[in-house]
Amino acid sequence: MIEITNLNFHYPDGRSALERINFAINSGEKVALVGANGAGKSTLLLHLNGILQGEGVVRINGYEVNKNNLSKIRSLVGMVFQNPDDQLFSLTVGEDVAFGPIYQGFETHIVEEKVKTALEEVQLAGFDDRHPFHLSGGEKKRASIATVLSMSPEYLVLDEPTAGLDPKSRRELVALLKNLPQTLIIATHDLQMALELSSRVILLNHGKLVADGSSTEILCDEQLLKQNNLI
Ligand SMILES: Nc1ncnc2c1ncn2[C@@H]1O[C@H](COP(=O)(O)OP(=O)(O)OP(=O)(O)O)[C@@H](O)[C@H]1O
Ligand SMILES: [Mg+2]
Repeated sequence: MIEITNLNFHYPDGRSALERINFAINSGEKVALVGANGAGKSTLLLHLNGILQGEGVVRINGYEVNKNNLSKIRSLVGMVFQNPDDQLFSLTVGEDVAFGPIYQGFETHIVEEKVKTALEEVQLAGFDDRHPFHLSGGEKKRASIATVLSMSPEYLVLDEPTAGLDPKSRRELVALLKNLPQTLIIATHDLQMALELSSRVILLNHGKLVADGSSTEILCDEQLLKQNNLI
């Protein structure tokens, strides 16, 4: 379970990015986080594995997210960043995707199996030896998703996973995510995906949580969506 209690966050320049955020997500839920540019979605996600720490409490399976628990938290929460260049740092795609399972201590042949499966899942079979910088934008996005899938974390946090994907890649990614047993938290502007994939939507506006409810209810509320610059 993820529990966020009274979370406030200011960037060092003093800008308030999150104000009094409260919600809980149960294991197995698939939740879409929506909101206009600058609403605070990425900032909120970065609190789930301790990259950012604000005032208030974030708990994952009862463990408070803080410096002392970071390795435990990061084995539970896999994060796909909005910008793939923040995720891919090795000389080959294969090494990037292997990094997580190696860190988790799996034997070589199991690591290889996990890398193969994760690359197949994002339609990048055979890309093992490619240099991450020499991929297209959509391929980079899919490679960064594979780096997290290979670790099978209990919570999968994805920031704009469909941004820049072509229609077929997008469709296949949505189908993949839909069938994963893990808890998903996805920040997205892709409201169609939110509707297809998640049963619950959390809506942010200027760092505040303005709605939290069923996807059909929130995503069919034209007035609410207009007020929050989502349509
Ligand atoms: N490193 C930073 N320093 C200062 N302010 C920041 C920083 N990163 C983000 N912000 C500000 O914090 C607010 C929330 O930004 P955030 O990136 O969380 O929005 P978002 O909802 O993810 O937007 P988008 O849909 O564009 O990805 C914005 O006002 C943004 O300008
Ligand atoms: Mg963002």
